[in-house]
Amino acid sequence: MKQKKHGAEEVVRGKGGELHQTSNGDVPILTTQQGTPVSDDQNSLKVGPRGPSTLEDFHLREKIFHFDHERIPERVVHARGYGAHGYFENYEPLPDITAADLFQRAGEKTPAFVRFSTVAGNKGSADLARDVRGFAVKLYTQQGNWDIVGNNIPVFFIQDAIKFPDLIHAAKAEPDRDFPQAQTAHDNFWDFISLMPESMHMIMWVMSDRAIPRSFRFMEGFGVHTYRLVTAQGKSTFVKFHWKPKLGMQSVVWNEALKINGADPDFHRRDLWNAIQSGSYPEWELGLQLFDDAFADSFDFDILDATKIIPEEQVPIRKVGRLVLDRCVDNFFAETEQVAFCTNNIIPGVDFTNDPLLQGRNFSYLDTQVKRLGGPNFTHIPINAPKCPFHNFQQDGHMAMINPKGRANYEPNSWGGVEGGPRESHDVGFHSFPAEEKGRKVRERSGSFADHYSQARQFYMSQTKVEQGHIAEALIFELSKVEKPAIRARVVSHLPNIDPKLADRVAKGLGLQGKVQSATAAVEPRKDLRPSKALSIALNPPKTFAGRKVGALVTDGVDRSLLDALKQELDAEGAMLEVVAPTVGGVQATDGTLIEADQKIGGGPSVLYDAIAVLPSVEGAALLLKNAAAKDFISDAFAHLKFIGWVQAAMPLFEKAGIAGDLDEGFIELTGPKTAAQFVASCRKLRLWQREQAVTT
Ligand code: HEM
Repeated sequence: MKQKKHGAEEVVRGKGGELHQTSNGDVPILTTQQGTPVSDDQNSLKVGPRGPSTLEDFHLREKIFHFDHERIPERVVHARGYGAHGYFENYEPLPDITAADLFQRAGEKTPAFVRFSTVAGNKGSADLARDVRGFAVKLYTQQGNWDIVGNNIPVFFIQDAIKFPDLIHAAKAEPDRDFPQAQTAHDNFWDFISLMPESMHMIMWVMSDRAIPRSFRFMEGFGVHTYRLVTAQGKSTFVKFHWKPKLGMQSVVWNEALKINGADPDFHRRDLWNAIQSGSYPEWELGLQLFDDAFADSFDFDILDATKIIPEEQVPIRKVGRLVLDRCVDNFFAETEQVAFCTNNIIPGVDFTNDPLLQGRNFSYLDTQVKRLGGPNFTHIPINAPKCPFHNFQQDGHMAMINPKGRANYEPNSWGGVEGGPRESHDVGFHSFPAEEKGRKVRERSGSFADHYSQARQFYMSQTKVEQGHIAEALIFELSKVEKPAIRARVVSHLPNIDPKLADRVAKGLGLQGKVQSATAAVEPRKDLRPSKALSIALNPPKTFAGRKVGALVTDGVDRSLLDALKQELDAEGAMLEVVAPTVGGVQATDGTLIEADQKIGGGPSVLYDAIAVLPSVEGAALLLKNAAAKDFISDAFAHLKFIGWVQAAMPLFEKAGIAGDLDEGFIELTGPKTAAQFVASCRKLRLWQREQAVTT
């Protein structure tokens, strides 16, 4: 065997021409799982180089055996997800609200792991499906792991856990054909929804832009259910948990979502990975909505009903700490795939309520994880193990790694001292809040859950005109994919109870004008609920362009000083610049320097950016006139209402894209380095919503 260079790699060429990379003491030696060093990882053991393989080839058999068993069942819901490590930092001691240890000391940091997910699609589905996003937070507190297993939407489709299997069966691919993947635009989903009026509030959220977030970093998170916080003295306060993104909220538009799924199906996971790797750590504040029994009794709706919110205007949010994600996983499978969040992972100072959806969840997560992770010992996997000391007498089972030491594996016992093992503690241990419970044993939905439309209407009324339009268009899109006209009509029949104009618009979009009767409401919808500004994304814009990205389309002859100025302004804002060029090799600038590209034009369409700059030279623009991807780069950015920085040389490209006559205030001409600041300032608005009147997608 001869030592040779293969590109930059030192390799040894074997007799069949195959390349071997060997350890010279500089890297660890490859071994089997048993630690036996491996001499050749390119060839199986054979009787002669062209002969049969031998059964005694333990390395071949072990390697293939292990590969054969690599897959585990994906999560039955929320299969596609992405996680990161970080910490929760507490702002101030809260002993008057809760005994939970992590809230007792100002400035204390509690390690955290967060997994974001979509619900309906499988593990390999695209990130920009219209769907709820999971927002699951594991807090490794000093008194055990506390999981807040939430979503980016504060309400849910159903009120009782017994309907969850039906909801998910209906939402996922239809069982005979196994499509559509990762979308609800099909008959089964809407059939179920049309017969489930309690879902109407959630439907308004899912049809809104909340269900197509620009990034996990720009989403709110919600614990959804009402929980309890309990003090050391046993005083209980009801609470709803909120996560508020420091960078503000942002979503994409629907046509953009469709295109992102093609251009970069990993758009959300890549975004989180890149942000953390570049040191731009995403951050959320934990907000508590705290209220007592008197408020609960006086509130218009039942606080145990997960299809209802409590408007922030009615119970303000108290910010008590921040969650920072500052470390990517070392290994996706070991951490993100094997992490197991459970609503019933809870700590002293926090407790459940009787919300019938939460009660069902408390059974479901542990049950499903035994199957998904292959046995009862998944708590031994480092990502799931507590970071505080833990001791008990649970033992054995598949993959047991931390069985109790010593002779005692039961209690009470008389072995005493260390040998006797752990004991319960009345003072420190978890106590359930001693709520008074009494009643008949019944299978019955509380009458206090029966108002299905009032808050759906309140959500809709709280949106801007543009956002209301998006809800209507999303309903039209989804229902246009439904094959059975009766299902379409039955869904639309619920809308007059929310807003007659919305019902008319959707009916018209489906060709159903005058053909739909209003569904009978169990409880007459209220019209007196005040709009809540907090429910709109548009009414809560970010203050800066931080965390966002500009794509600059350049050619040979680009003005380097302008590009540098743009980069500088974006850096100062905390935003990023990516260079998009005819080839990934880059371009030569006016001053003769090479500017490396991040993307080739076809691989970096404008849907991947929050704003674009079109900075070709005159000659470069002439060459791009024949480039279809360059035309789409511009026409899509226009159609998606983005801000566009440009130089005069870009005009022929605008003509080609059919928008030269439409230059509105979203176009900022970059006449020199000094104009870069003005462009970045405009980008803070994220989109020029008024342009929507000029474009339909
Ligand atoms: C408010 C309603 C709900 C919310 C906010 C919610 C949230 C979540 C989230 C975020 C995950 C992903 C966890 C991860 O990243 O690993 C998840 C998974 C899951 N949820 Fe829910 N869920 C809700 C309702 C339910 C209900 C009612 C049930 C069943 C009765 C349920 C059963 C499951 C199951 C089985 C998983 C998969 C867990 C795993 O395999 O690790 N969920 N849910």
